[in-house]
Amino acid sequence: YKSLKKFPHDFLWGAASAAYQIEGAWNEDNKGPSIWDTFSKLPGKTFHGTNGDVAVDHYHRYKEDVRLMSEMGLKAYRFSIAWSRIIPDGDGEINPAGLKFYDDLINELLKYGIQPVVTLYHWDIPQALQDKYGGWESREVIGAFKKYCEAVFKQYGDRVNYWVTFNEQNVFTAMGYRWASHPPNVTDVKRMYAANHIINLANAEAINLFHQLVPKGKIGPSFGYGPTYPITANPDDILAADNADDFNNNWWLDVYCRGTYPALVMNHLKDLGIAPEVTAADAKLLKSAKPDFLGINYYHGGTFQQNKLEHPSKEDADAKDFSSTDPYLMQPKDSQAQEPETPMFNNVQNPYLTKTDWGWEIDPVGFRIALRRVYEKYQLPIFVTENGLGAQDQLTDGKVINDQYRIDYLQAHITEMQRAMTDGVDMIGYCAWSFTDLLSWLNGYKKRYGFVYIDRDDDSQRDLARIPKKSFYWYQDFIKRNS
Ligand code: BG6
Repeated sequence: YKSLKKFPHDFLWGAASAAYQIEGAWNEDNKGPSIWDTFSKLPGKTFHGTNGDVAVDHYHRYKEDVRLMSEMGLKAYRFSIAWSRIIPDGDGEINPAGLKFYDDLINELLKYGIQPVVTLYHWDIPQALQDKYGGWESREVIGAFKKYCEAVFKQYGDRVNYWVTFNEQNVFTAMGYRWASHPPNVTDVKRMYAANHIINLANAEAINLFHQLVPKGKIGPSFGYGPTYPITANPDDILAADNADDFNNNWWLDVYCRGTYPALVMNHLKDLGIAPEVTAADAKLLKSAKPDFLGINYYHGGTFQQNKLEHPSKEDADAKDFSSTDPYLMQPKDSQAQEPETPMFNNVQNPYLTKTDWGWEIDPVGFRIALRRVYEKYQLPIFVTENGLGAQDQLTDGKVINDQYRIDYLQAHITEMQRAMTDGVDMIGYCAWSFTDLLSWLNGYKKRYGFVYIDRDDDSQRDLARIPKKSFYWYQDFIKRNS
């Protein structure tokens, strides 16, 4: 292009967070426990045994945090509501103190002209629903979720325009039911597919209810998307990358946007005896729900080859890149265990990409590819609801955090997003992950993403002071110039 398309003046430059990762106050003001409050206290499940009891204490310091957002010039702030603050036992009485907290937060954001973007579910179902019904494995939970959604749509629908239903359904189902690295701590893919189907139904119900109650608002899911690449031009590798695309992406996106499961995956799951049961009424419900936009969380994609694992050569074995802490790929690190579906594709290292300290590929061009592929296929406006770099930031004596690597990362990704927009992708906004540092589910406070440093670590809460990093000032200037 001779020049790139300019970002529209109302483009939503934002940053994101999730309740469990920032709020703390885990049992205050009648909040009930969520499955994360329980799981994070099981020995050996999180880094240094960190949990979200205090997190970064946003519950008590939200005014200070919002003031910093306004200083930065944010146009939007994405956060999630903790279901167990609103309905402590999941499906009983509504807790006025819980409603009040988010009322206050939303009003504080609006006072500074920052649009709230509200996620309904960022992985923290009330523990009581897990105990009573088995959580997402039971259809009983759909009614409970609707009740919670109705309460918050009615309470905040007059002030909140953008809503996200489920955050990264692909990630929390795999982590929770395939690898037991998240709650509910299960390793059973049949149960995973069953729970996933019930979540799809809950997603559809929430979208339909929202359209009735908040006709002017916009709602959609946020999906953890990674483009798939073949390792070579060998048609068998191309087929493997297509298979991975269907299993890792389209299995969710087709349901969200078209209301149907992709036939290829469904046929294989039936063949393996692990397919979910879909009734005629389910199929009708899935078809009826139409999201207004698609939220995309982008960190990286994956590279695939035909599966030669039955008799791997030494070269193949060395090239394998299993990654258990990487939720975006089907295959776990440190384990040669075959997932039942993976004869269809085999994840390998991409020789052209560098990686973060946690082994996540850094692939800005993949972001452009992702946005184009998703938009071409589904033709829905895209809201980037997460993108960012996890790193071990250092606080120096002068209270400075020089995170130039994060600026480079964000700059490169935003440039590719602008190219995708110039290519024709309809974009609503971009929320970097994250605003302040926060609790990384499995990596504690070692892995930081924020524009604002939080002075605490896994072993000590210190004073939880908020200290803007170099990237804070970079994003501030970027937003001001809208370029
Ligand atoms: C996304 C989640 O998967 O990635 C966030 O929506 C999460 O909640 C983020 O924190 C980064 O993951 P991690 O494991 O590096 O903290």
